[in-house]
Amino acid sequence: MTSPAELPFAAQSDSPASSPASGQASRPVLLLTRRLPDAVEARASRDYRALLNPEDRAFSGAEIAARAAEAGADAVLCCAGDRLDAGAIAALPERVRVLATFSVGTDHIDLEAARARGLTVTNTPDVLTDATADIALLLLLGAARRASEGERMIRANAWTGWTPTQLMGTHVGGKRLGIVGMGRIGQAVAARARAFGMTIHYSNRRRLAPELELGAIYHADPEAMLPVCDVLSLHFPATAETRHWLNAERIELLPPGAILINTARGSVVDDDAVIDALKAGWLASAGLDVFENEPNLHPGYRDLPNAFLLPHLGSATVETRNAMGFKALDNIDAVMAGREAPDRVV
Ligand code: DGY
Repeated sequence: MTSPAELPFAAQSDSPASSPASGQASRPVLLLTRRLPDAVEARASRDYRALLNPEDRAFSGAEIAARAAEAGADAVLCCAGDRLDAGAIAALPERVRVLATFSVGTDHIDLEAARARGLTVTNTPDVLTDATADIALLLLLGAARRASEGERMIRANAWTGWTPTQLMGTHVGGKRLGIVGMGRIGQAVAARARAFGMTIHYSNRRRLAPELELGAIYHADPEAMLPVCDVLSLHFPATAETRHWLNAERIELLPPGAILINTARGSVVDDDAVIDALKAGWLASAGLDVFENEPNLHPGYRDLPNAFLLPHLGSATVETRNAMGFKALDNIDAVMAGREAPDRVV
């Protein structure tokens, strides 16, 4: 077996001050699939023989499994872009006991395969709720107020000065926001949108208790809600069942001139249908932070002035990414100590 120091990615040597050499061999080996914030890597390297990825190369699932095997990993800390399908899970060495993903979403992991293999999978809920809801509001305001068109105009040196009719957008106050999926992030988006004077509608498998609903109007059937959505914001997980949930038929149920916001996963919308609706003006604009097949998004989006596009920034604040990393490490610590992981998914 290759020792961590011989691996083609950086093996973190133990700091003599924080960990006596005598303790090195007994510390579990932790494979980090991507580069993580400094504070997270520092803690990982303090508590584990941590195998880092300083070049931040994206590895395939098969490569991750091969690296885990080479390193003799006991735990793997993976990220949202890592495709860990049934083949990759099966190829992980037996000694890997926990796969902690640095994300709340788990759609990149074959959970059934993990369950069948007896592998604990954990995620990072709660700590990214506010950051993701903030991005949803940024998208909402940016799409409604044509922010990227304005910014591009300035950068292209095409702004000839203020005019009364330039880049007129849509006022969000007084409009109806429909939220599909009223979990933690959906509720945080509702709280922010209320402050902008929006009326909140939502659809969720279960109706929320009044103290969480806070006057939001419940629709048991999401399709029945679509006709009242001046803005539609999606907050449900990507699964085989939700793939392309927002298709041409459902877009037609929205009022003309609606705005679409997606901070969930790209696969929950049918890109061709969204692009057609943006071209036709049926959707006035869209604010999208996530895309099917990231980073190779549908090229049709790039040419659309009414698409406000961000590169999956939902949780991208220093505070949030540190908190996500620490949560992933808390989960790994628990499994390594023989305790139940606080954020166990499988
Ligand atoms: C998640 O946590 O699932 C995000 O999409 C990555 O920040």
